[in-house]
Amino acid sequence: MIEADLVVHGIGQLVTCEPTQGEGPLGLLEHAAVAARDGQIVWVGPTSRWQGRLELMPEAVIVDAHGCCVLPGFVDAHSHLLWTGSRADEFAARVRGQPYWGGGIMRTVRSTRAAGEEALLEAGRKRLKSYLRHGVTALEAKSGYGLTVRSEETLLRAAAKLAEETPQRLVTTFYGAHVVPEDNTAQEYLRELVEEMIPRFRPLATFCDAWCDPGAFDTEQCRRVLNKALGLGYQLKLHASQLAPGSGPRLAVELGATSIDHLNYLRDGDARMLAESSVVCVICPGTTSNLKLAGEGSARALAAAGCQLAVATDYNPGTCCSENMCLMIGLACQELGLGPEEAIRGATIGGARALRLQRQCGSIRLGKRCDLLLVDAESYLDVPYRLGVNLVQTTICLGKLAAGQV
Ligand code: NIG
Ligand code: FE
Repeated sequence: MIEADLVVHGIGQLVTCEPTQGEGPLGLLEHAAVAARDGQIVWVGPTSRWQGRLELMPEAVIVDAHGCCVLPGFVDAHSHLLWTGSRADEFAARVRGQPYWGGGIMRTVRSTRAAGEEALLEAGRKRLKSYLRHGVTALEAKSGYGLTVRSEETLLRAAAKLAEETPQRLVTTFYGAHVVPEDNTAQEYLRELVEEMIPRFRPLATFCDAWCDPGAFDTEQCRRVLNKALGLGYQLKLHASQLAPGSGPRLAVELGATSIDHLNYLRDGDARMLAESSVVCVICPGTTSNLKLAGEGSARALAAAGCQLAVATDYNPGTCCSENMCLMIGLACQELGLGPEEAIRGATIGGARALRLQRQCGSIRLGKRCDLLLVDAESYLDVPYRLGVNLVQTTICLGKLAAGQV
């Protein structure tokens, strides 16, 4: 008998995201049950068998899924979690035709610098709770709206505190190379990044990220930043080709980055080069649609070439202020032409790969974190079909009920 402190039984369709465990690319199991102990999955099997296989510990939680579909917790691999100040007015102006050029970033930087650590923690806590209601059980927290040593450190320390408090798995990224702040020169800011910030923040961040696009940093500047980070043991990410085609993809492959994010534009040969590498391509459908770039068709080209994909929110105040992963899956299908299976894998196991969490998160498998979503549907196909509806009824995070009810 296997000891368990949580069992979810009566699952109509279990989407394991482990093709070896069930049918098709999503590893589907019908009429299933999942059990956990101390936050880890200890058993997956037919729902008719759980009573014969499990020994429930005192105060174990028993959840009847009543035939609904159950997914692994979503992994949001691209999130600018910490900042203050709304830019809803900028969004409204853009809807009326004003172009996006990243100029609003400094507004958020000014507001974030003025906010103390407490205000950032408060904003972070509120967002993490909402993320849980939207089924996100692991996510990234980027810095990047401070852009001074002091303010970036406040953001990274706030992220570390939130990671301690929340049941969600939080991964921190230092994103000082977001843009050159208006009160500094590119030369001086790059010196500060490379000589002060990157070495100083090594204990506070797993990843280092840079933005390679017109208006942010060029390829050489990104190479300088990321090479320094690589030498100090950071894992690498790169925002690239969000606003224009460029040589970001080549740089990401050259440096062995974990992920390259956005990729609204591709140059000839980029998709094949990325498919032959281990770099995960993080698609941000909310941002792509916000910037009206879905027509570029790059996500479909990446999928067709066989790239490893992740689907993420890019949660940020400028280009996608949404933590709704069901919406991202819907937009990935409806606007970017991914299949439902590709989009759901991208939002789970693909996201986990983009954060190097694939051993712990992103699929339903023995030994992984027990992060499960009970969705208000019989089939995963409803997630993109019911566009924008948060179908997550209950979120189980690290083996405990974390949002919603049963
Ligand atoms: O990921 N690419 C860089 N930055 C953000 C947008 C930043 C902003 O407008 O505040 C993004 O889209
Ligand atoms: Fe981003």
